[in-house]
Amino acid sequence: MQEKKAGLNNAEFWSGRFTEPVAEIVKRYTASVFFDNRLAEVDIRGSLAHAKMLAAVGVLSADDLAAIERGMEEILQEIRAGRFEWLLDLEDVHLNIERRLTEKVGDAGKRLHTGRSRNDQVATDVRLYVRDAIDHNLQQLKDVQKAFLALAEAHADTVMPGFTHLQVAQPVSFGHHMLAYFEMMKRDAERFADCRKRVNRLPLGAAALAGTTYPIDREMVARELGFDGVCENSLDAVSDRDFAIEYCAAASLLMTHLSRLSEELILWMTPRFGFIKLSDRFCTGSSIMPQKKNPDVPELIRGKTGRSNGNLISLLTLMKGQPLAYNKDNQEDKEPLFDSIDTVRDTLAIVADMLTGITVNADAMRAAASQGFATATDLADYLVKKGVAFRDAHEIVALAVRHAEQQGCDLNDLSLDVLKGFSAVIAADVYNVLTLEGSLASRNHIGGTAPEQVRATVARARKALG
Ligand code: ARG
Repeated sequence: MQEKKAGLNNAEFWSGRFTEPVAEIVKRYTASVFFDNRLAEVDIRGSLAHAKMLAAVGVLSADDLAAIERGMEEILQEIRAGRFEWLLDLEDVHLNIERRLTEKVGDAGKRLHTGRSRNDQVATDVRLYVRDAIDHNLQQLKDVQKAFLALAEAHADTVMPGFTHLQVAQPVSFGHHMLAYFEMMKRDAERFADCRKRVNRLPLGAAALAGTTYPIDREMVARELGFDGVCENSLDAVSDRDFAIEYCAAASLLMTHLSRLSEELILWMTPRFGFIKLSDRFCTGSSIMPQKKNPDVPELIRGKTGRSNGNLISLLTLMKGQPLAYNKDNQEDKEPLFDSIDTVRDTLAIVADMLTGITVNADAMRAAASQGFATATDLADYLVKKGVAFRDAHEIVALAVRHAEQQGCDLNDLSLDVLKGFSAVIAADVYNVLTLEGSLASRNHIGGTAPEQVRATVARARKALG
């Protein structure tokens, strides 16, 4: 972005009291235009609603309103075409646009700021911007959820080891594992939707901090801008950024979930696991080791989660010491917030695509599930169902596992005679529960890994997603 001097001084907006121009370094230090100009479109939306309301209550003439609307339309085109000149001298997005409007339409432009302050203006802009981001994120989350459901359906019967402590614990299906992430995404979507309720309140009308003396109609502005209602205290309206903090918190939880997924994808891709392959478009090579295919994208998702957490802490810390009402500290809310918004947007787009590019190596998953005595709990449950107390069953199975380990085989490789040696209640039907399929199928309740349940969950979830 070009920074250009036009012989202007931002002091022209408040010049009467000022006897010397602001120092160059101070100008740079206090300016936000080079990062807040992404608010331009919402700023114009807010200004148009404000002007319309001023005209409706008789504070602005119909001619002035028409001039403002025409000027703003031209400005919008200039911005979209990249022709708008953002000037550091004009400090921020609000003053840049207002100044350009006045250049275009004269006095009508100077009247736009009646009954308003940059304090309620910026709070409104940021809320509109976050609301748009949430609406987009919710669409994207749906795509990610659908991708998890597709994998779950395709792999309802694909056996893999379930882990605790990263040690083989019990067999699950890959589909069931994918549904775990589906649940996390579902809660993330709920969190964003819930955050939206508190984002979607109108600050305009609060003016600098105390309200305004003009006969404004805040409800009208709220309706115009699609807000659910107005902020009911002017001091709070201009000063709190809790809604931005909430967005960043929801973003961090989402990123945390996707970081856990990334960690698993990275592990599963290593030759030691060999559970999955990721499409080449999500991997990169090494400049020195020709054999390498690195999971850069999941690694970056994991890495960017750290940034996202940092943004949340930045905003919390920004807020904690501020007395009411507005303080310039709040200008610092934008970069962390925007960074989280960008990170979430790009990460969700990438994850939705990446999930469709996963190839599953069912044989490797199955082999791993067969190695870790994954059906030991099933054997214990079998004994309990035949009348053995659970603690005794636990001990019997531990001895059987030790024996199999010494023999270098799995539990279902032990002969019936050998198994009977550990407990007399064991009969030929024991092999039904010692197989991986038997183990999965027997966990047939809502939330369990049985293929039937996984398919039913997918069907329910699809219906709910619409
Ligand atoms: N650029 C400022 C911000 O982001 C706009 C509000 C400035 N208000 C003021 N009283 N200095 O917060």
